[in-house]
Amino acid sequence: MGGGKMIGVMMVMTMVVSVSSQDYGDALTKSILFFEGQRSGKLPSPRRVNWRKDSGMNDGKDVKVDLTGGYYDAGDNVKFNFPMAFTTTLLAWSVTKFGQFMDPDLQNALDAVRWGTDYLLKATSTPGTVFALVGDPFGDHNCWERPEDMDTPRTAYQVNTTSPGSEVSAEIAAALAAASIAFNASDSQYSQTLVTQAISVFDFADKNRGSYNDAIGSVVCPYYYCDGSGYMDELVWGAAWLYKATNNEYYWNYVQHTINNLPKYIKVMNTDGTLSYRDNFGEFGWDTKVAGINVLVSGWVLQKKLDPSPFVLDADRFVCTILPESPTKSVTYSPGGLLFKSGPSNMQHATTLSFLLVVYAGYSKRNRRQIQCGNVVVSPDRLVEVAKGQVNYILGKNPSGMSYMVGYGDKFPNRIHHRASSLPSMHAHPDRIDCHGGTSYFQTQHPNPNLLTGAVVGGPAADDSYPDSRANFSQSEPATYITAPLVGLLAYFKANS
Ligand SMILES: *[C@@H]1O[C@H](CO)[C@@H](O)[C@H](O)[C@H]1NC(C)=O
Ligand SMILES: *[C@@H]1O[C@H](CO)[C@@H](O)[C@H](O)[C@H]1NC(C)=O
Ligand SMILES: *[C@@H]1O[C@H](CO)[C@@H](O)[C@H](O)[C@H]1NC(C)=O
Repeated sequence: MGGGKMIGVMMVMTMVVSVSSQDYGDALTKSILFFEGQRSGKLPSPRRVNWRKDSGMNDGKDVKVDLTGGYYDAGDNVKFNFPMAFTTTLLAWSVTKFGQFMDPDLQNALDAVRWGTDYLLKATSTPGTVFALVGDPFGDHNCWERPEDMDTPRTAYQVNTTSPGSEVSAEIAAALAAASIAFNASDSQYSQTLVTQAISVFDFADKNRGSYNDAIGSVVCPYYYCDGSGYMDELVWGAAWLYKATNNEYYWNYVQHTINNLPKYIKVMNTDGTLSYRDNFGEFGWDTKVAGINVLVSGWVLQKKLDPSPFVLDADRFVCTILPESPTKSVTYSPGGLLFKSGPSNMQHATTLSFLLVVYAGYSKRNRRQIQCGNVVVSPDRLVEVAKGQVNYILGKNPSGMSYMVGYGDKFPNRIHHRASSLPSMHAHPDRIDCHGGTSYFQTQHPNPNLLTGAVVGGPAADDSYPDSRANFSQSEPATYITAPLVGLLAYFKANS
């Protein structure tokens, strides 16, 4: 343990003296392009990712609702709306916060948000119903098929007034509300449509409380997307975004009254499948929103000089769980400096938590405050520096000397766990490839034929090693919620480095 601390101190020193040589603008362009490779539904032409074609064109037919569109969340062909909504929220947050630095990619970033929200509007178009999932995960995961010719059941699963799902519904409300802010300047009519729908979906989520684990747990829980932290965090998060989008005091009152009802400890799955409990204020991701709520809300609490408790105090405590020099640090760092938390797909933590650090640094700086972690005083610049270290690691400043973003740099993952990327494109192989017809493409040591530019994978093991193996999905699978916060971070560092 003492040795671990030494490494932490040495790492800090290296970060201070390092001069960055990353091309953040190039990485930003690529990170947004990734979302075009993940699109489901009718694709526009011309398009930049031309090895992809229309897919999932009958989604929603079984329930007589148009559910085409949206994103495949990772390397499979299921549309999991809970992480998809979180992805959309973070893309919208990236744009509202750092869109000013995105030029010439701002329009592409807005298109990425809209591809999510157009679909989420469809998924919530039937009053009293929210579609939470399209595609049968059992059928899908048994096959290695291209989205363009998959033949697995495209079942639409819903939550409703009798079988509610407040987390998926309130996260969709958050996404629609955040996106309404992102579109306010460029398309006020669309912005209005989004906020109106956000209000009604939030109302549905709040009035019909329950977890989607009880409604459709049999399909989401075996596939990683079980809700472990309850739905109160999504209700508060949705209300916070609605307050930001509408300025309606109702939502601010809701946030203040409900924040103290969140469970203090969050159940998390360890890498070995066992469970442990963590303080809620340190958690942020597709499942748990608490640190995100505290950072977001601190923006206006600090600006308006409101009571800092609990938001600012807990945002400070969050920061202190991350910083390598903090006495209350709860994350770990690999010898090469990558942030680690237990559970699969570690890179999501490095990106989402770094995003919060940069946002909170901005709020802290604007209000001329430093953060106290025990007896260590932390400046806003230090938060940015730690986040930058994570981004640089991802882009190639690591012991393997490889970028974890496909298509960025000279050396990057070649065998990502991703059906569309690893199977030949429809151009190269127009004949159908059936469920098990894809197995040899999964097993081959050859690199994937289609470059899924901008995909960021689950990442290296805790010793910084990376096997580049499709079978090792926890490390080699990209996910939309890994990249969404990176879009904002890259825009920030493009302009501020
Ligand atoms: C409500 O949702 C549950 C869970 O998805 C589903 O079993 C039930 O059929 C739905 N009710 C209606 C009226 O569609
Ligand atoms: C939307 O834009 C208008 C006009 O510029 C501005 O007054 C308003 O505050 C904006 N609203 C949001 C939620 O950003
Ligand atoms: C993935 O790789 C890690 C080490 O890099 C190894 O411990 C683990 O067993 C591998 N898992 C699979 C499914 O291959």
